Amino acid sequence: MLLGITSQNHDASMALIDGDKILWAAHAERYSRIKNDTLLNEEMIKEMREYGEPKQILWFEQPFPKSLRKLWAGQRPWLCKPREELKKVGLNHLPVEYIDHHESHAAAGFYTSKFQDASVLVADAVGEWATVSIWEASSKGLKLKWHKIYPDSIGLFYTAFTQYLGLKPNEEEYILMGMAAFGKKYSSLIDKIKDDFFVKFEGPDFKLRHNLHRGCKWWVRPEDATDYDIAACVQAIMEEYLLRTTEWIKRTLPSENFVFMGGCALNCVANSLLAKIYKNIWIMPNPGDAGSAIGAVAAHTKKHLDWQGPYLGTDIKQDLDIDTVINELLSGNVVGVANGRAEFGPRALGNRSLLCDPRGPDAKDRMNAIKCREKFRPFAPAVLEEYAFDHFEMPVKVSPYMQFVAQCRDPRSFPGICHQDKSSRVQTVNTADNPTFRKLLEVWYEKTGCPMLMNTSLNIKGEPLVNTWKDAKRFEILNGVKVF
Ligand SMILES: [Fe+2]
Repeated sequence: MLLGITSQNHDASMALIDGDKILWAAHAERYSRIKNDTLLNEEMIKEMREYGEPKQILWFEQPFPKSLRKLWAGQRPWLCKPREELKKVGLNHLPVEYIDHHESHAAAGFYTSKFQDASVLVADAVGEWATVSIWEASSKGLKLKWHKIYPDSIGLFYTAFTQYLGLKPNEEEYILMGMAAFGKKYSSLIDKIKDDFFVKFEGPDFKLRHNLHRGCKWWVRPEDATDYDIAACVQAIMEEYLLRTTEWIKRTLPSENFVFMGGCALNCVANSLLAKIYKNIWIMPNPGDAGSAIGAVAAHTKKHLDWQGPYLGTDIKQDLDIDTVINELLSGNVVGVANGRAEFGPRALGNRSLLCDPRGPDAKDRMNAIKCREKFRPFAPAVLEEYAFDHFEMPVKVSPYMQFVAQCRDPRSFPGICHQDKSSRVQTVNTADNPTFRKLLEVWYEKTGCPMLMNTSLNIKGEPLVNTWKDAKRFEILNGVKVF
């Protein structure tokens, strides 16, 4: 039994794996209740032990080269100390093997896919040194074909602009992506950003003018450029880079299958463009560093995992009272659901979700009364898989993990789940993915003729996703919303 660990980064996590079975996988934040917690905690280790006792640890990163890079970059603290942390949480007796950061990402993607061979693209802010890497994956394992190293990083470029726009770097990149639809994407601003930030901009190769690790607050924008315009142009540059790189991979490597991993693979707008290049695309639903807890183990075993879905965390062992939930929804109420195993990944996919009727002009306002989000941000729809194409121009056949956006065919009827550009981040639901959530949607469809529900994460503002039934009850008290 092997334990994969991601820690001392921006989203600590663990995964317990036996052979090809992922027994349990979870984020530290769900237990400590500290959003994006960087360290492991005893509570999660106690739960992990309910599933088995590991014999070895696979750590998602090489501490020595990472420490060297941090020292070189003048970052503090520069020394990475995995053993000290393992000692604190009572795991120091186990042997540890350290796995390369980008290799962990690539392995998390390839070995959870159904592909026997694949071309793998990894793009994030930075691992030890790598920022972009391209791999050829086959039964022989993962072969590194190309990589780019720090400080040249397309992920850091995007993160620097996240901070420039007053958002939290390494956390709120998705808000920058959402803002982009409200801005003007015009060539003079795109060219200025490229000129000011890149010495070379090709695909996959590029070179930055500056180390962007400390942001780019010094950048002077053109007077007429709004925050939204800057977001639109930064997003356009990211899309152009990823498109060119993926086209280069398609031309260069033989596989018809494509795997995309790393923090940049959370950009669902860009993902949808890449899905047009490769018919067979797989993005593991936790493509950032947290998912590398699984990847570190897979890179060690070099074997495919029996991927059954992302419901791998804390188990709330109770049946969902579907009829009561439906009655609440029919009364126009927002309803929380917390049952089964928690999602491993950033999205609530029906086991820790807040739901409401997506129809009508006030759906978003009803949800926003609880979520208090920026008004411009839409909520996502969860739709019965077989009706997804009736309502959305899907770039992929199925999207069970909300990783792609699709144009809504009838945005007037469903304004709450449509963004400014009429796109929606769709979750398709079938019985194999999540039988309880599927049943709920089926009953909703029988009663209303509407095959979808608005689905967002069940969390108190500023807190991680609800994890336990106790968290769910706390949510209920603080928000006045029933949770079933
Ligand atoms: Fe990463």
